[in-house]
Amino acid sequence: MSEPSKVAQRVQELHQQIAQHNYNYYVADAPTVSDAKYDALLRELEELEQQYPHLVSSDSPTQRVGAQPSNAFQSVSHGVPMLSLSNAFAEDEVQAFDKRVRDLLLGAGMLNNTDEVVYQAEYKLDGLAVNIRYENGSLVQAATRGDGRTGEDITANIRTLRSVPLKLQEPYPDLIEIRGEVLINRSDFEQLNEQQVKRGEKPFVNPRNAAAGSLRQLEPSVTASRPLRFYAYGWGQISHATLPQTHAQMLDYLSKLGVPVSPGRKIVTGVKGLIDFYNYAGSNRPNLNFEIDGVVYKVNSLAAQELLGYVSRAPRFALAHKYPAQEETTLLLDINVQVGRTGAITPVARLEPVFVGGVTVTNATLHNEDEVIRKNILIGDTVVVRRAGDVIPEVVAPIIDLRPKNARKFIMPSRCPECGSAIERPEDEAVARCTGGLFCPAQRRQTIIHAVSRKALNIDGLGEKLVNQLVDSGRVKTVADLFTLTVLELSALERMGKKSAQNVVNALEAAKNPTLGRLLYALGIRHVGETTAQALATHFGSLEAVSKAELDDLLAIPDVGPAVAASVARFFAEPHNCEVLENLLSVGVKPQNEEKPLRSNDLPLRDYTFVLTGTLPNWSRDEASQHIKAAGGKVTSSVSRKTSFLVAGSEAGSKLTRAHELNVQVINEDDLRKMLGM
Ligand code: IVH
Repeated sequence: MSEPSKVAQRVQELHQQIAQHNYNYYVADAPTVSDAKYDALLRELEELEQQYPHLVSSDSPTQRVGAQPSNAFQSVSHGVPMLSLSNAFAEDEVQAFDKRVRDLLLGAGMLNNTDEVVYQAEYKLDGLAVNIRYENGSLVQAATRGDGRTGEDITANIRTLRSVPLKLQEPYPDLIEIRGEVLINRSDFEQLNEQQVKRGEKPFVNPRNAAAGSLRQLEPSVTASRPLRFYAYGWGQISHATLPQTHAQMLDYLSKLGVPVSPGRKIVTGVKGLIDFYNYAGSNRPNLNFEIDGVVYKVNSLAAQELLGYVSRAPRFALAHKYPAQEETTLLLDINVQVGRTGAITPVARLEPVFVGGVTVTNATLHNEDEVIRKNILIGDTVVVRRAGDVIPEVVAPIIDLRPKNARKFIMPSRCPECGSAIERPEDEAVARCTGGLFCPAQRRQTIIHAVSRKALNIDGLGEKLVNQLVDSGRVKTVADLFTLTVLELSALERMGKKSAQNVVNALEAAKNPTLGRLLYALGIRHVGETTAQALATHFGSLEAVSKAELDDLLAIPDVGPAVAASVARFFAEPHNCEVLENLLSVGVKPQNEEKPLRSNDLPLRDYTFVLTGTLPNWSRDEASQHIKAAGGKVTSSVSRKTSFLVAGSEAGSKLTRAHELNVQVINEDDLRKMLGM
């Protein structure tokens, strides 16, 4: 290929192919080539450009990291200001917004009396706003929002994002400014933090901070190494003879130009449409591979938008409906330790009360001693606290810049605060434990709370407070003692009426014939969770058989490893435990024996591990999971190389992406039914 015109032609071809692959990957979300093939195209182009330097152009994909590091960002004034959005947290604010919009449009004759307003509803992406300017189809400038009028010139950095085209697809307008959010996907964020730690650098607190730090880099090559993505949700200046009529069509148009557009958007009608979208997005939030802090409603008609106009610094035609913040900062007042059922000592952060994730949080788990050290948390620090969904609140990281001089280290106590026994931490284990066993009131309390919990004996009305009273007074020492409680005794306790006392006694009576699996789980044998307890029950059929099982018998059960087997054998060898079992029998607790142990060929899914995601057409995820388990399959919560199948329903999110990445087979509910022979 020496003929110059042929080389030039090949260079053009490579530009187009690489741009097309970027489009397929970032915009269409449907890559058609492997990373290796993509890299090979890029290398070929680099080599040609090295031989023929006059063929290097500024919109060549090799020129993404072109600029030299600079000392400061230049300022850019925005031709069309970058405004913010009015916020709403409550439903009545959304109603007021819709009413205001509707009244104004009715008044202007843009709406009939019976019409509802049509909106474009979008996710409120939690990243950083940027404006990207294209002249004659080429990216010429990118800027941060700044104060809305003046931002910072980050062109060199934005050019390094592969999701941002250097050249728009034709036909493009002479001038267009595209506005959107720069962010880091959750899965990319996890990988990025793993790399940071491997390189001995500090992990980032959250995807948003990582994105902000990566974008405001004076060295574009650093930005290039970070997995930043761009999603458009609007525009600024534009020269276009005939614009589309709606916001939704405008975003479709941006997508046609080759720009990735805010995903998950929907056209909805009236207040009900808005609230439904808010609720739907809220429940889908954990499945998304990016963070959102709310949803945005925009009147869809551009003519109506123009009529509604702006108030101070926000459009009257749009509203951000936010979710309660999932992260807040607060003061770490102290670190205490808590003793768990198995004696595990957990450091717990005592916090200045803070409203986060919709509740007031005063305590947060720190997991274990190493975690406190790894996160570099000192007592007295201002810390970031996170509570997402129903997850237990946790301390994410300290804010080092705000660390006071007298901040002090957490020291693991050497004695149990509850019973004074020694605390020991075996080598190679992350967890320190109280050695007091059932002598320790904390362990006794937790053992009983576990035994009566929903998935164990499921005794209604026996809450934590009541159990604490009963254990602390010495009346209840083991689960068996619960079954000897009388209405008279119970009603003498604090905050207990005769009726509640009777209810507790009834509930205890009703719990006397648990399934064997539940009883085994209720015993709180270390390493025996719900699934293992059920496996033991199914395999041995009776309590007697389990209690007499030798190590080898236990090891014969699939999924029972040496640690579990040893723990089960040790439990039944312990005289104190045998006494509790005998007492249980003597107070009338009798587990239902399993019918017949199932043979392995009755368990068609026994070699497979499943993950469920999205909404299935007929079954809830719980139902599907029960069917799988009944057929011997395993169900886990996250996709890994060990996953055999991902069962995906509609609105499947990051798990689906992960499954594709790992080449895990994806099936639907119908496929699953077939596998179950249904
Ligand atoms: S529209 C005229 N749409 O929220 C206002 N903004 O509080 C134009 N944001 O600075 C913004 N997702 O950074 C819009 N789908 C979305 C958005 C979104 C996130 C951010 C944006 C803006 C801030 C306003």
